[in-house]
Amino acid sequence: MCGIIGFIGRSIKGKTITDSLKKLEYRGYDSWGVSFLSEGKVEFFKEIGEIKNVPKKIEEINSSLAIGHTRWATHGKISKINAHPHISSDKKISLVHNGIVENFSELKKQVSNNNFSSETDSEVVLRLIEENVNLGLDLLHAVSKAVSVLEGSFALLVFSASEPDKLIAVKKESPLLLGVSSKGIFAASDQIPLSSFTNKFVFLEDGDIAVVKKDSFKCFDFSLNPVEREILEVDSDVTSSGKLKYSHFMLKEIMEQPFVLRQVLSQEKKNFDEISLLLKKHPVFFIGNGTSFNACLFGKEFFSRAAGISSQVIDASEFPYVLEFLPENSLIFALSQSGETADVLDSVRKAKKRNFKIVSMVNVFNSSLVRLSDKTIYLNCGEEIGVASTKAFTSQVALLYLLSNSCAEKFDSALEELKTLSLKMQQVIELNKNSIQELSSKIKEVDDVFFIGRSLNYPVALEAALKLKEISYIHAEAFQAGSLKHGPLALVSDGVPVIVVAPMDKVFSDTLNNAIEAKSRGAFIIGVSNEKNDAFDFFIPLPKVKELLFPLISIIPLQLLAFHTAVFLERNPDRPRNLAKSVTVK
Ligand code: F6R
Repeated sequence: MCGIIGFIGRSIKGKTITDSLKKLEYRGYDSWGVSFLSEGKVEFFKEIGEIKNVPKKIEEINSSLAIGHTRWATHGKISKINAHPHISSDKKISLVHNGIVENFSELKKQVSNNNFSSETDSEVVLRLIEENVNLGLDLLHAVSKAVSVLEGSFALLVFSASEPDKLIAVKKESPLLLGVSSKGIFAASDQIPLSSFTNKFVFLEDGDIAVVKKDSFKCFDFSLNPVEREILEVDSDVTSSGKLKYSHFMLKEIMEQPFVLRQVLSQEKKNFDEISLLLKKHPVFFIGNGTSFNACLFGKEFFSRAAGISSQVIDASEFPYVLEFLPENSLIFALSQSGETADVLDSVRKAKKRNFKIVSMVNVFNSSLVRLSDKTIYLNCGEEIGVASTKAFTSQVALLYLLSNSCAEKFDSALEELKTLSLKMQQVIELNKNSIQELSSKIKEVDDVFFIGRSLNYPVALEAALKLKEISYIHAEAFQAGSLKHGPLALVSDGVPVIVVAPMDKVFSDTLNNAIEAKSRGAFIIGVSNEKNDAFDFFIPLPKVKELLFPLISIIPLQLLAFHTAVFLERNPDRPRNLAKSVTVK
């Protein structure tokens, strides 16, 4: 995926655009570019890699019309030529695109000026617009004609030096919003880069074309019929930015979990009541990817244990293949931090065709998933910038616990339990923050790490293994502790770390036996528990909490373990290789 930004208004410095674009780098960061209308001409600059060492000339340019793009390559390799913005042959029209134009190869053959300079699907859109302008259409009509033949997903920002009073914004299945500020009107993939300018947003709908001027905007459908879009004022308290005193966003996001939990818990009871009613009436299927999938596993457990509701969990990338076998009247409960994950959106769109109810749990306000949902619970955990999800995970798990209790008419007591838990989260950080660094210095030396757990501790093991592998690149795998002896035990040899998630709960002694089996084959046993045991070669202490709430504290030292191991190995935990914050391709 990519991030895009645009501005039209009073003259601003180029640095305002590049600084704002930097806040979108979590959406993709292999190359970037900006273009400005300056003294009647389109000036542009593109670079490979992160947004840094921006030339003075670009930072100091004065412009009242600008667009920018930070790229995550999908069509075409990482190169300056493939970086956006794309510029028309006559150097007058400039375009940025987020999304994928699926029929770009066919369209490419239809463009008469086939002098393409890049390998991107985005340049095809620009060429179509250019061709329409050359036929005599104004920019709005040229864009509308071009987008009506596109298949796929696209958020576009386009301007032309010939019509310097407007910026055109188009949205279909890729996020795009406008931010109305005192400086002028911005457009961006999300509100994060705009939150320092405004809290007034216009969330464009799929199929919208907006004509944005310096102090007004008008929205149309693709056939240019006017449509009304209102300006929403958003509470900006939950959007924190900057790393504060921390070296990395991931560390900040781990450390702020106790505080964030309090914020997450300010939920509207009525929304929970309405969703609880739905959950009791329909067969429930949880879907999600990666960390959100792991959170779904807790949803299933909490729902059956706290409310007697049975449900199933399906990875969103597999969901379309089982959809036809699901019962009529099903309810899809989709979890996604970003609300933009392609596999989740695709599954939800397909489920809607069967008239299934859609409930979602999402962090990013008004993201695509929210718009597709009948009901949404917002995580309210603030922006999560680190690519590895941490505070969004604990927020999801906490809210699933609250919701399952709401289904059992125990919303208020669960809320109190979770509020108290935030103190225990702080305690677990204090207990472990130094010793985990010592453990990380050992883990950084190994090739494989195994995590085991039973029952509710198994999804903790899965999530811990995902964190470690994605940011340290050390092979990490999770097993149900009881399954170790059915094959994986063959992998255990002298010194291999086996991390045993085993708080003192009903399955403690069975898990401990599995740990001892591994130890007798030479494993180095790291115990995560509220009870020390002789079998543990290294002990990660937890405070005592209610059994169902252990996952919310046992994951925290394991997030820290992944973080410090990555840092020891000089791997940037905020920007792991091959990964982006939202995965908007299937
Ligand atoms: C792992 C991670 C990913 C995401 C996954 C889904 O740390 O961040 O596995 O959890 O790509 O993302 P969302 O929750 O935005 O749908």
